[in-house]
Amino acid sequence: MSRIHEALKKAEQERASTQGGGVPSSYATTPVADVGYEDIEVNRVPPSLGMADLGGPFSLETLLARCPQPGWNPDLHTMLFMNGNDSAKGTEEYRTLRSRLYHIREKMPLKKLLVTSALPKEGKSFTSANLAQVMVRQHGRRALLIDADLRGPRLHQMLGAPKGPGLSEYLAGKADESSVIQRGPMEGLFFIAAGDSIEDPAEMVASSRLKVLLQRVEPVFDWIIIDSPPAIPVSDASVLAKVCDGVLMVVRSNSTPSDVARKARMEFPDQMLVGVVLNGTDRDEAEYARYYYESYEKKVPTTQS
Ligand SMILES: Nc1ncnc2c1ncn2[C@@H]1O[C@H](COP(=O)(O)OP(=O)(O)O)[C@@H](O)[C@H]1O
Ligand SMILES: [Mg+2]
Repeated sequence: MSRIHEALKKAEQERASTQGGGVPSSYATTPVADVGYEDIEVNRVPPSLGMADLGGPFSLETLLARCPQPGWNPDLHTMLFMNGNDSAKGTEEYRTLRSRLYHIREKMPLKKLLVTSALPKEGKSFTSANLAQVMVRQHGRRALLIDADLRGPRLHQMLGAPKGPGLSEYLAGKADESSVIQRGPMEGLFFIAAGDSIEDPAEMVASSRLKVLLQRVEPVFDWIIIDSPPAIPVSDASVLAKVCDGVLMVVRSNSTPSDVARKARMEFPDQMLVGVVLNGTDRDEAEYARYYYESYEKKVPTTQS
């Protein structure tokens, strides 16, 4: 058994014993198909996609007029910017992360950002959701948060939002953009939930439909933040990275084995890695009290707090 598999197994056992759960069985398979994306232009919708796609170009007017506004009931302990206190613990680190990302954006195109990590329960969803929130705390910004973890979706629970219709319905051609993009209570924040569970998530995220979705909605948003499954047990994250501009890796402090984190990092091309969030560094106080951001700019890692 390789070190990676040993580490995965150990992490699974540790989580099962400490948190009453383990690696969800949906992560236990290893579909490794490396499926490329077809080159599909915006609005050139394949005929097989059905009536739901014939809505014409997607615009801000469409977004504001047609997207559902279901009302959310967020978990205020972990959704750091939704309780009206922007100086709560952890918020400053997100503002720092935001400014680093803007800094990187001056040097490379960066709008579609994939958030991933090696293993389950390292804070990918927590990081994606809070990052999307801090982005829209700046006046006039719009962010779209997408739950692309079709195996273990959590974002709808964190936000207290409906689970569907969402990405899986869109990818299956059963819904169009304006029926899956939810408008939240926070100005500028929009969300696509994972939707109903499906049998073949790796194939679904590899479908050209995802590229179509992103191309259609991209002009309307300042940031598109995509939450993903863990990078090591399944191939979805590396497939998702192909339609993104950059990858943000989450590493859980005192938890992620370093060789496993390194292995996950190798799943992505160097130029796509925009940084690392070290999550949960202060266990004595609130866990989210410390975030560190490590830049991979010029491939010379520098650690800053
Ligand atoms: N820094 C943090 N502070 C407090 N809770 C956290 C932090 N990071 C993660 N969590 C919590 O830990 C659990 C697992 O995190 P999650 O983001 O769902 O992991 P992943 O998406 O990597 O599987 C969730 O309940 C989340 O709210
Ligand atoms: Mg998650």
